[in-house]
Amino acid sequence: MLRRLHHDQPESFAFTPANQAWAEAQITKFPDGRQASAIIPLLWRAQEQEGWLSRPAIEHVADMLGMAHIRALEVATFYFMFQLAPVGSVAHVQVCGTTSCMICGAEDLVAVCREKIAPKPHQLSSDGKFSWEEVECLGACANAPMAQIGKDYYEDLTAEKLGRILDEFAAGRVPQPGPQNGRFTSEPLGGLTSLKDAPQEEDHNGSVALAVRLEDTVKRIDGGEVALVTPWLGKGARPATPPADAYRPEKQPRPAAGQPVDRTGVTELEAREENKAKPEADVASQALTGREPELLTAPEGAADDLKRIKGVGPVLEEKLNKLGIWHFRQIAAWDIDEVAWVDGYLNFKGRIERDGWIAQAAALARGDDPEDNS
Ligand code: FES
Repeated sequence: MLRRLHHDQPESFAFTPANQAWAEAQITKFPDGRQASAIIPLLWRAQEQEGWLSRPAIEHVADMLGMAHIRALEVATFYFMFQLAPVGSVAHVQVCGTTSCMICGAEDLVAVCREKIAPKPHQLSSDGKFSWEEVECLGACANAPMAQIGKDYYEDLTAEKLGRILDEFAAGRVPQPGPQNGRFTSEPLGGLTSLKDAPQEEDHNGSVALAVRLEDTVKRIDGGEVALVTPWLGKGARPATPPADAYRPEKQPRPAAGQPVDRTGVTELEAREENKAKPEADVASQALTGREPELLTAPEGAADDLKRIKGVGPVLEEKLNKLGIWHFRQIAAWDIDEVAWVDGYLNFKGRIERDGWIAQAAALARGDDPEDNS
């Protein structure tokens, strides 16, 4: 099946402030240079907010991650979980059409969707409230036939039951998800054959109980529902506060901010990664990204012991000296462009930022111990 962007696209996309904060927090989970790994959760959040993924939404996420737009488009068009066309404002119905469900009556469920919603999948109903599609196995085969509506599963369906469920949604109510034939979970239809004496203290199985509690089966997610789950950014989780004038990677503009791709379709971030993967001699002969920092032909007085910077050993110190870097104050003064230049030149693979050289060098230049967090 061809997966193309919808012909009718909105002008723009923006996360709600809460979703934007959530998305930015997700990005911090990944090491520098690997922010693109956050693309699935960010695209998913955009879809949870809008119901579907528009081109501006995909490009917005790409810009946040410093990726070429085409890379994000590749992800969004590859995975069937991403809706590339507007879905019903109330609910999008996903009927499982794989073996167990097909044998147990999935075709009857599809017929209900064709009749009550729209003749073809991914078409909006005449009132714009519903849409539907047939999907592959959703992993609830023991409760076939079934459909996912919004975030929850409706199982053990018949055509009549699905029809009633759609009527309930149309009337503004959310019918209880889970088995629709009285089963608790996926026990035998004829009743339990083992563990008959096990007490059943709950009214609903875990999934249904959670769905009933959250009441978000067909709700769009604006970010106000849950607290941000970013303990790694919490108090005490960060190293000691660096000096006000220290280099702060998280305060710098992203390499590709506002300009995600160059004429070749490659982001600056990708170009740097490519350079880092090449042999040193090869890299040195190429045009480097960033800006050359202050380099000295000889140390000014006694050279600093650069090995006091955590992450710098004798080999790296020698390389830095050969380049013309002898003093803590030189390293402490680097900005993001100069870090990029040194990083690319010496094929450091991001270790300058990772090991916090700038903050350490700033402390050492002041005569402080960078290990002293007091
Ligand atoms: S075949 Fe329908 S859920 Fe597995």
